[in-house]
Amino acid sequence: MATWLLLLALAAYATAFSNPLACSGTCTDTHDPSLIRRSSDGTYYRFATGGGIDIYSSPSLTGPWTLQGEVLPNGSGIDSPGSDDAWAPDVHYIDSTYYLYYAVSTFGTQESAIGVATSATMAPGTWTDHGSTGVESVTGDDYNAIDPNLIVVDGTNYFTFGSFWADIFQTTLASDALAWSGGAPHNLELNATAPQPSEGSYVYQYGAYFYLFFSSGSCCGYDTDRPAPGDEYKIMVCRSEEVTGGYVCPYQLPDQFYAQTGGTLVLGSHGVVYGPGGQGVYDDPTYGPVLYYHYVDTTIGYADADKLLGINQIDFSSGWPVV
Ligand SMILES: *[C@@H]1O[C@H](CO)[C@@H](O)[C@H](O)[C@H]1NC(C)=O
Ligand SMILES: *[C@@H]1O[C@H](CO)[C@@H](O)[C@H](O)[C@H]1NC(C)=O
Repeated sequence: MATWLLLLALAAYATAFSNPLACSGTCTDTHDPSLIRRSSDGTYYRFATGGGIDIYSSPSLTGPWTLQGEVLPNGSGIDSPGSDDAWAPDVHYIDSTYYLYYAVSTFGTQESAIGVATSATMAPGTWTDHGSTGVESVTGDDYNAIDPNLIVVDGTNYFTFGSFWADIFQTTLASDALAWSGGAPHNLELNATAPQPSEGSYVYQYGAYFYLFFSSGSCCGYDTDRPAPGDEYKIMVCRSEEVTGGYVCPYQLPDQFYAQTGGTLVLGSHGVVYGPGGQGVYDDPTYGPVLYYHYVDTTIGYADADKLLGINQIDFSSGWPVV
């Protein structure tokens, strides 16, 4: 590829990110958000990492968001360290029931399990915790069983997860969507460069492709909880014609990727948006497919409680997501 074309491509994506849609009400407390619109009345619900998983609701996608309560007020039934601090919720609506997957772990360890709770309405007090799905990991496994994500394809519950170690893996859940099928997890994405910082995956089907979104870098830091500039979260994507594998991860084929789209990154730091990650995709009736994520505003702070909800519309017209 001609150097000028590469430079043009780099310049295009360095300046191309849109700012998040304006958000009203309580838009903080949003580390690793999960978002869905309740089918019965159109109320939006949002969940995030921490404690018993706070429940926020809003009459619209962009607010005003208000705190309603917690999914797991008494902690998770998973009997291991971290059970009172559930992480990375992933909510889906299947056959008139809301399923919320979450992880129980402690920072930097592989002693991890993915749990699930269900509800008919998502309101506080209506959640039933089913404990572990059986998708778990221990020290020495290839993977770390956190950051769950479900996608149902032709009636099969594909379950993608992973964080650092060998990055992103996929298995399936049984037809009840509550328990592991027993199928061996296989690797979907690997950044071979230590410390192999991919996590928070979300698989979304659009057109002819499955898009594997993930966060690359560090979610958090120490002291002020600020990841070092350059190491902070950014949102990446790979795509495949099959949900189970064959993901083309652009950074592994830079020439091909630049030729197609002009960038490998979906969203990185820009303006006051620092460290966007923990993302998911939701097909909203008003806005169409949106990328939702957390970020910090560098003028506010870096703690989980400071993390803000970001939402951008996605343009898939090039075959790759552009925000
Ligand atoms: C939480 O614990 C309290 C006190 O034991 C109990 O009254 C309440 O029903 C529990 N809530 C749930 C959702 O299990
Ligand atoms: C892969 O990991 C390295 C080391 O942390 C990081 O510098 C790089 O940005 C990562 N690449 C991608 C595409 O995420």
